[in-house]
Amino acid sequence: MARYNPLKVCCCILLVLICAVALICLCIATFADVGCPTGSFKNAAVAADSQICSEIGKNMLQQGGSAVDGAIAALLCTSVINPQSMGIGGGSILAVRNKTGKVTIYNFRETVPKKFKSNLLNDCPTTFRLSTGSQWIGVPGELRGYEAVHKLYGRLPWAKLFEPTIKLAREGIPMPPYLATFLSANIVKDHVEKSSLCEVLCNMNKTVLGKKDILRFPKLAETMEIIAKQGADAFYVGKIGQDLIQDIKAAGGSLTMDDLKSFKVRVIDAQTVSLGNVQMHFPPPPAGGILLAFILRIMKGFSLTSDSLVGDKKIQLYHHYIEAAKFANRQKRNIRDPTFNVEKSADYLIDPTFSDNIRALITSNGTHDDSYYSNKPSTDHMGTTHVSVLDEDGLAVSATSTINQLFGGAVYSPRTGIILNNELADFCGRADSLSAGEQPPSSMTPAILDTKSGGILVIGGSGGSMITTAVALSIINRLWLGMSLKGAIEAPIIFVDSKNFVNFEPGFDKSVMDGIKTLGHNIGNWRFFLNVVNAVEKENGCIQAVSDRRKNGMSAGY
Ligand SMILES: *[C@@H]1O[C@H](CO)[C@@H](O)[C@H](O)[C@H]1NC(C)=O
Ligand SMILES: *[C@@H]1O[C@H](CO)[C@@H](O)[C@H](O)[C@H]1NC(C)=O
Ligand SMILES: *[C@@H]1O[C@H](CO)[C@@H](O)[C@H](O)[C@H]1NC(C)=O
Repeated sequence: MARYNPLKVCCCILLVLICAVALICLCIATFADVGCPTGSFKNAAVAADSQICSEIGKNMLQQGGSAVDGAIAALLCTSVINPQSMGIGGGSILAVRNKTGKVTIYNFRETVPKKFKSNLLNDCPTTFRLSTGSQWIGVPGELRGYEAVHKLYGRLPWAKLFEPTIKLAREGIPMPPYLATFLSANIVKDHVEKSSLCEVLCNMNKTVLGKKDILRFPKLAETMEIIAKQGADAFYVGKIGQDLIQDIKAAGGSLTMDDLKSFKVRVIDAQTVSLGNVQMHFPPPPAGGILLAFILRIMKGFSLTSDSLVGDKKIQLYHHYIEAAKFANRQKRNIRDPTFNVEKSADYLIDPTFSDNIRALITSNGTHDDSYYSNKPSTDHMGTTHVSVLDEDGLAVSATSTINQLFGGAVYSPRTGIILNNELADFCGRADSLSAGEQPPSSMTPAILDTKSGGILVIGGSGGSMITTAVALSIINRLWLGMSLKGAIEAPIIFVDSKNFVNFEPGFDKSVMDGIKTLGHNIGNWRFFLNVVNAVEKENGCIQAVSDRRKNGMSAGY
């Protein structure tokens, strides 16, 4: 008969205990993770155009920074990683949602300088091409905007937000692949090599930098260092501003110190529309948010579900969308700076009766002649970047920033290293006149959506005129068609251009394309699918952050 070995019994009990503890731990871990998809974050996240800038934003959050700190640091970084899109020579529109759910807009989009070229709009291109030259430069608002929003919501010192970007600009960055691809395209290569931009974007032989080159912005590093130490005043009333104005003058531009000194950030309430059990907050005109809201309100009435993607219903879904986009296109000329166009409020676009009436004009069996959509056509535009940030305290920032077209109007300031915007070209095809101090109309639409269940979606996009469609389709995909956030953003889009031609992004469902043709739509051959959407979403305690792969984007979080 075996005798009990006390040591063995002890071991057994210990083993059972360890197993039990391990099991409990596993259970807790499993239940805590319930519903959180892989790749989601628990605390905070940043979705910028590039991995490096998302990481820089995230690092600010981890050091105790707020979503505003993260957004500013990520935007500054973007100005050197994607210098074609935005920079401190441009402007932004930013939405910030505080803990209590109140969404405020900081609009620091460029304005028309006090002196501007008479008959400027006669210089507008009649075909889709880049508008170069100093006559298009608007008064930059970028740094005044950062200053205003940082003053209220910043938790890290102002200078700290500049540190990582100054280092990148000074020490150099291996050529970002997206930028390299851009520079190698003939149209961009010529644009850059023939302009003052060649000082930073060309090699010794005066040809554009290639994939294996190092990108450096030594002068911009110096400028940012001064601004980091002295604040935005260095730009608006100090030496940086004087140098910049001198360079603009040399390039034939009309901006003065007085324009810089008198630039004012506009702080206003967001507009809000209800999309069923979701509230969407967005910046009012001259931003494009109201057109996004108009399209979404029309689409909401079609009661979309994931079933809408099945069979012929999918053709109807996109047909309805295209019709809504055609009506939206013809409303663009009514989106103006309200300060200067008081009589021209665009608020009717979010009046439920108006969107119901327009929806009733959409016929399922076919499209219509141009005249059906009323109003004068506009023209198409491109450019821009977007960053979405959500921090641990529930502060959310959605910011769209731009110098307008690729590298603005290709005017580089050698004394400051700043690339100037060509924002005034945004009046082209959208307005017949302009005033000093006025902000040009825009497609930018940084949005923040609240769901009934306490969820939040911070979203926005870039790509000029394509912003509206890229953001609208992403939201439709996510809210109503049952796609994941990643799937919603990745799905190929339809772009209805200003001539109401329907353009399909490569990869678009062939059977739907055929169905759309059958319904009588004119099909276009748009080649520049520069649409990019970056979004952060929090639901049930899980944070998803998606940066669009179209621009080699990657989000970051923890
Ligand atoms: C949120 O913003 C509103 C309006 O500016 C303000 O009244 C409220 O106190 C803010 N709440 C927090 C928690 O900051
Ligand atoms: C410049 O051109 C010369 C002669 O064609 C060539 O040998 C050299 O590698 C080029 N340098 C750069 C930086 O491309
Ligand atoms: C669509 O239907 C309406 C009536 O419901 C009809 O008047 C119209 O001709 C039809 N259009 C096409 C393109 O079949």
